[in-house]
Amino acid sequence: MLFYYSGTGNTQKAAQFVANRLEDKCIDIEAAIAENQYQYQLGDNERLGFAIPVYFGSVPAIVQDFISKLKIQTGEHYYCYLLMTDGGMAFKTGDQFSFLLVKSGLTLNAIFEIVTYDSSCIAWKNETIDWDKLKHAVETQTAFVAEQIFDRTTGNHYKQQILSGLATASMKLIYRAIQTSHFRVSDKCTGCGLCAKKCPTHSIEMSEDHPKWIHAHCMLCMRCLHHCPAEAIDIFGSPGRPRYKKAV
Ligand SMILES: Cc1cc2nc3c(=O)[nH]c(=O)nc-3n(C[C@H](O)[C@H](O)[C@H](O)COP(=O)(O)O)c2cc1C
Ligand code: SF4
Ligand code: SF4
Repeated sequence: MLFYYSGTGNTQKAAQFVANRLEDKCIDIEAAIAENQYQYQLGDNERLGFAIPVYFGSVPAIVQDFISKLKIQTGEHYYCYLLMTDGGMAFKTGDQFSFLLVKSGLTLNAIFEIVTYDSSCIAWKNETIDWDKLKHAVETQTAFVAEQIFDRTTGNHYKQQILSGLATASMKLIYRAIQTSHFRVSDKCTGCGLCAKKCPTHSIEMSEDHPKWIHAHCMLCMRCLHHCPAEAIDIFGSPGRPRYKKAV
């Protein structure tokens, strides 16, 4: 059983690849929340997995909330792994996730990382991306990680940065400072309503055929920005950056 949350598609793609390799069930955390489904039972020998993106050196809020309510009955030969997708700076996300699981009565046996395209659009400057090269690198990492999970490899298999705790704390401040008031909509908006419909935290309302951010629990996942068919949404560093409509 592999639970995943994905803002813009990277994690979903990796999770589906791994689940296929393991011939396992892949469960979308957003769908589980919508169905109020928090109780699961693992079979004997069944692996338990979680695939998540790293947001500001932390576990996305929607995943934290899901884990806090999750009740899993485990079977014989339990093995549990975390698969993170990120831009290469996971900081303390692995430790934080492990701690959250312990609070839910579960233990983590392994942590893996797949470094992919950074969807944040915030801190990093414009760059030219070789999409084919990136796609190949991501697919190679995913296939390698899938084999490790298949073999029930244990331990931490991700790069930890120095001063991770400090970096995570600073990024939380950045996160609070950014807020949704910095989103801008251009006149390219067609009023299709897709951004509001697809927002994982219901933080967008349509008002006079234009999106209006109502704060709520916006995680700055950037799905609204990347997936807008008209590329009408911007925030800070996003003008001129490629939109990320399909995971590599
Ligand atoms: C709000 C936000 C914050 C992010 N923070 C980090 C970070 O701290 N470190 C990092 O390496 N990548 C960071 N990223 C990049 C994502 O972790 C990475 O692009 C991930 O693969 C996105 O997965 P998804 O497409 O499934 O949402 C961030 C992305 C977003 C949207
Ligand atoms: S998805 Fe884009 S075009 Fe559609 S309503 Fe939202 S901002 Fe406008
Ligand atoms: S408003 Fe946009 S960035 Fe915020 S949670 Fe919704 S889709 Fe993600």
